[in-house]
Amino acid sequence: MSYKLISFDKIPSTQVYAHELIANGVATDRTVIVAEAQSAGRGRYRRIWVSHHGNLYASFIYSIDERDPKLSYAVAVSIAETLISFGISPNIKWPNDILINEKKVSGVLIEYAKDFVIIGIGINIKTNPTVSKYKTDKLDNYVKVSKSELLSSLMKSLDVWLNRDFSVVRKRWMDLAAGLNKTITHRGKSVELIGINENGALVLRNGPEYIMTYGDEISI
Ligand code: BTN
Repeated sequence: MSYKLISFDKIPSTQVYAHELIANGVATDRTVIVAEAQSAGRGRYRRIWVSHHGNLYASFIYSIDERDPKLSYAVAVSIAETLISFGISPNIKWPNDILINEKKVSGVLIEYAKDFVIIGIGINIKTNPTVSKYKTDKLDNYVKVSKSELLSSLMKSLDVWLNRDFSVVRKRWMDLAAGLNKTITHRGKSVELIGINENGALVLRNGPEYIMTYGDEISI
């Protein structure tokens, strides 16, 4: 099934545009909004997503019956598999940051509005911003890939992984996860990263105590 593509040179945010389409009652399933650049790109936790020309900025709109907290893992695997298809070896940092050599190249912002989910994906191709909290990288340092090839591969990968059973997604996510069985920081504490469970919770271990969490941040 094809996607409806809406492209812009520069807009404030493809994500905000997607919200507007939904609010105005004109959004349809499988619409993708892409922009060459964004003047007010949005990241998770109300952070700014610096969005200069040269990178991929896309928001995918899908109609849904219900919210799915496990979706974010399927999206992460979709992006990772896309990069793998171009010869790159990425890792996933929980829940859905994509890293190359421990540096972030892609971020995902999943939001819900009415009967839709909006999956916002940014992938650094030509430029990577300097961010104080973490290191960043860009695909150009590893492989030459055109934005249109990347987008079309990503669409195919999303179609595969968003429709797979969670048991399969979870296994692949764990194969690709960064920091598994290593000590990471969660809420200021050093804990061991065990993985994700069958419900999509992040599983951490602090000595004999196992911690399940859904919405936090971790540092690897
Ligand atoms: C993150 O904080 O890691 C998520 C970043 C998500 C950025 C993408 S770029 C396309 C879409 N439009 C936005 O304004 N944000 C998302």
